[in-house]
Amino acid sequence: MTRTCLAVVLAAGDATRMKSSRSKVLHEVGNLPLIAHVTNAAARAGVNDIALVVGRDADAVTRAAQIGHQLPITPVMQTERKGTGHAVLMARDVISNGYDDVVVLYGDAPLINPESLEAAIASRTSGADVVVLGFRAADPSGYGRLIERDGELVAIREHRDASPEELEIDFCNGGIITFSGARAVDLLEAIGNDNSKGEYYLTDIIEIARARGMKCVAVEAPEEDMMGCNTRAELAEIEAVWQARARHQAMLSGVSMIDPSTVYLSHDTDFAGDVTIEPNVWFGPGVTVGAGAVIHAFSHLEGTTIGAGAQVGPFARLRPGAELGEKAKVGNFCEVKKARIGEGAKVNHLSYVGDAIVGAGANIGAGTITCNYDGQNKHLTEIGARAFIGSNSSLVAPVRIGEGAFVASGSVVTSEVPDDALAVARARQETKPGYAARLRERISAIKALKASSGS
Ligand code: UD1
Ligand code: MG
Repeated sequence: MTRTCLAVVLAAGDATRMKSSRSKVLHEVGNLPLIAHVTNAAARAGVNDIALVVGRDADAVTRAAQIGHQLPITPVMQTERKGTGHAVLMARDVISNGYDDVVVLYGDAPLINPESLEAAIASRTSGADVVVLGFRAADPSGYGRLIERDGELVAIREHRDASPEELEIDFCNGGIITFSGARAVDLLEAIGNDNSKGEYYLTDIIEIARARGMKCVAVEAPEEDMMGCNTRAELAEIEAVWQARARHQAMLSGVSMIDPSTVYLSHDTDFAGDVTIEPNVWFGPGVTVGAGAVIHAFSHLEGTTIGAGAQVGPFARLRPGAELGEKAKVGNFCEVKKARIGEGAKVNHLSYVGDAIVGAGANIGAGTITCNYDGQNKHLTEIGARAFIGSNSSLVAPVRIGEGAFVASGSVVTSEVPDDALAVARARQETKPGYAARLRERISAIKALKASSGS
C-alpha cells in the first residue's frame, strides 16, 4: 500500500521586515507567489494533502497557495504567533485524519526542490521517526544547530539558546521536518515554551521524540534550497537563484541564450526547442514560444503565444492576448495587444496593433496604428489575408480591411475596405510649379524689412 503524507505549510509569519502592506508569502518570485512555489514543490514530491497555517491575508494566501496544482488545501488560522511548534499544532484536526507522514514546510522558503523534499520523506521509510532537512551554512548565525551523535540527531538548539561549543556547529536546521503521522499530535502537544523567546519551538520535537525512544536523523540538502525570505533584499537574492535555475533548465531543454543573466523568466514560461533569445528580454506570466522562434534583444512579453519560426523585436512589446502565427514578425518599437497576427504576417516597425485580427501574409506598414479605443469602449480591427497597409495609417475601429486590400500610406480609415479594393483616405496632393522659389523671396523680403526697422 502506498504511504500517505500531509504537508503542514507555515504561512502565519511575521512580515514586519518586509515593510509590506501584504503578507510576506504573497510576494512573488518568477511571477508566482512564494507560497505557491512551496505548495507546488509539495505536490511534485508526492504529498497528498496540505494544511495551510495562515494569519494575515488568510483568504488571499489560501488562494495563492492553490495556484498551479490540484492538491486539496485546508486553511487553519493561527491568530497569535506563538512559535513554529504552536503553528503546526493549529493543524491538529487535519493531522488527526491519519497520515503515515507529516512534513512541515515554511511558506517563505520557496526554493525547496521536490527532490530534497522527497529525500526527507523517503528517509522516514528507512526506520527514522523524525527526519530533519539540514544544510551546511556558510554563515550559521540565526539558525538552529543540528546536534548529532553516532549518526543520529539528538537535538536542535536555537541560536539564542545555544552554548559556545554548539554555536561552532555549521550543520543547521533548514526548517523542513518530517515525522510519523501517528505520533504527531502526541509529540507536538509535548512541546513547551520554556526558552529564551517564550515560544513553542517545533525543534524541541527532537528531544521529545528521543525521550520516547524514537529515532531522529538529519538529511543534508543544498543551502540554496533552504533560503528563507525576511526582507526585500532577501527576496531579490531568492529571485536571482530561481532565475538562474529556470534559465539553466530552459537551456538544457534546447533554448539558446546569448547572455542568460539578462533574460528574465516566469514560472510558466514555456519554450519549444531551438528557440533563440537575445540579451535583455523579459518574459512575464503566460508566454509560450514555438520551435525555432527568435526573440531579439530588449523585448518585453506577457500573456503571449508565439508561433514556430516567428521573430520578435528588437524592442518589441507583446501584451496579453498577443498571438503570433507561424513565421509572423513583430519588429522594433511595435506594441501588440489582444491581437492575432496571422501566419507570415509582418508588423515590422513602430506600430500599435490592439484588439485586432490580422490575416496570414498581411503587411502592416511602419507607424500603423489601430485606433481601438474611443475613451469608453474597445473595438475590433480586422485585416484580411495578404492585405497591405501603407505606412502611417490609422485604422479607426471597428473597421474591416478585406483580403488582398491595399490602404494607401497616411490614410485614416474609418469605413470598410472590401477585398482587393484600394483605399486612399487622405487629402489629395496639390503641387504648384515654381512656388517654392516665390515663397523663399517673400520670406527674405519680410526678414529684410524687420532688420531695417531694428525689430
Ligand atoms: C526556524 C527554526 C530554526 C531554523 C530556521 C530556518 C524553530 C524554533 N526554529 O527559526 O531552527 O534554523 O527556522 O530558517 O522552528 N511561523 C508561523 N507561526 C509562528 C511562528 C513562525 O507561521 O508562530 C512561520 C514563519 O512564517 C516562517 C516559519 O514559521 O515561515 C519559521 O519561523 P521563523 O520565525 O522564521 O523561525 P526562525 O527563527 O527563522
Ligand atoms: Mg526564519
